[in-house]
Amino acid sequence: MAALGFGVDIGGSGIKGAVVDLAVGGLATERYKVLTPRPSTPKAVADVVAEVVGQFDWEGPVGCTFPAVVRDGVARTAANVDSSWIGTNIEQVVGAATGLPVVALNDADAAGIAEVRWGAAKNVPGLVIVVTLGTGIGTALFHNGALVPNSELGHLELDGEDYERKASAGARDREDLPWDKWAKRLQRYFSAIEALLWPELFIVGGGVSRRAEKFLPLLELNTPIVPAKLQNEAGIAGAAYLAAQVPRVA
Ligand code: BGC
Repeated sequence: MAALGFGVDIGGSGIKGAVVDLAVGGLATERYKVLTPRPSTPKAVADVVAEVVGQFDWEGPVGCTFPAVVRDGVARTAANVDSSWIGTNIEQVVGAATGLPVVALNDADAAGIAEVRWGAAKNVPGLVIVVTLGTGIGTALFHNGALVPNSELGHLELDGEDYERKASAGARDREDLPWDKWAKRLQRYFSAIEALLWPELFIVGGGVSRRAEKFLPLLELNTPIVPAKLQNEAGIAGAAYLAAQVPRVA
């Protein structure tokens, strides 16, 4: 029987979960999605995660992505979720709501883990930077496949602005930007990161990576830039993988 895991992706706009086939990183079931509650307080979000997990006949550990800095299961920032999350232990709150063991990590780090294991970053040596373009901009840094957790390059300040507010997919939607105008902002962003960190490869994830052909060819960079292979499912897959690795006492 295939090894299975369960991942939930908590985002600024939606909360999605599915059973994951850990051999290939693909989803083993349909994905179930609920809109992120507003306000997105810990209790409201944990109840939605429980609703999502409850759609499946799942009894094992749950890997949970979170759109903020996560250290030892605790949210340390909250750019795109309710600020009452700061200092909240995600693993405890979601664990209590679901009745299952929970492992929580930053959403971009989770997506990156999946890309290293099954996707576009597999066996790529040197520095790989995964950038997820969603409600915010998430980043994950890997050196020779090892994660440097909780990088927050989405908040790089350029031209006096927190650049996630200019170049995320959320900004594109909010301002109704055509692809070429948005690509100019992405150009500014990726050029700045390239000049500071000199990666071997950029991988672009998030829902909009499905339409990579609309904007990636417009970018002129020295670094190769490719869409995430697991696209928007990478977070779910990476979180499920990580949760399945954590040893626990029965
Ligand atoms: C947060 C990051 C997160 C990213 C994508 C940013 O606003 O600070 O922690 O990875 O959004 O959700």
